[in-house]
Amino acid sequence: MAPPESDSSSYNVSIRPVDSKNWRDVAALQVEAHQRNYVADPTYYLALCCYDGLWHPMAVLAGEKVIGFLMWAVDDEDGSCWLGGIIIDRRWQRRGLGRKAVEATIELLAKEHGYRDFALSYQPGNEAARRAYAAVGFEETGEQEDDEVVARLRR
Ligand SMILES: CC(C)(COP(=O)(O)OP(=O)(O)OC[C@H]1O[C@@H](n2cnc3c(N)ncnc32)[C@H](O)[C@@H]1OP(=O)(O)O)[C@@H](O)C(=O)NCCC(=O)NCCS
Repeated sequence: MAPPESDSSSYNVSIRPVDSKNWRDVAALQVEAHQRNYVADPTYYLALCCYDGLWHPMAVLAGEKVIGFLMWAVDDEDGSCWLGGIIIDRRWQRRGLGRKAVEATIELLAKEHGYRDFALSYQPGNEAARRAYAAVGFEETGEQEDDEVVARLRR
């Protein structure tokens, strides 16, 4: 179902661990065809979180509806909390919800775990990602992770 409102202030965005109740909704998330170059399938990320022992999977909700996914992990090498696999379902994009989801995640991780240094990466041509993260305060550092641009935020 497509959302009726385009104004992000109408949505209460929250972040919740993926669990036995919401994982099917996460697995069903879709991005636009051209965006498949930027992210893997949500099912791949769920498997990664299950088996690599590093990443923590989180569902993004607007009200009670699952509209997105992201995962987080702490990199022992740089001590930063990395966000990855960020997806807002294609029917819910461009409403400010990606920005709100990242903000809510940082808020939650800072409050519950005391993390202050956050990092993420994206492909240089991924303008939606770059703008959404810049709006939260992430700044490109000149570092690269594989073929991706790294941006960091200190809270
Ligand atoms: C990247 C993504 C999570 C952003 O979520 P979103 O809810 O659409 O983003 P927002 O509505 O919060 O938009 C934030 C900014 O990005 C801009 N934006 C959003 N979609 C855009 C698009 N397709 N093209 C250009 N700019 C875009 C918005 O205009 C806004 O910019 P502004 O703050 O300068 O006005 C979403 O587009 C997505 O899931 N993309 C596919 C997967 C992906 O690329 N994930 C990131 C991997 S690093």
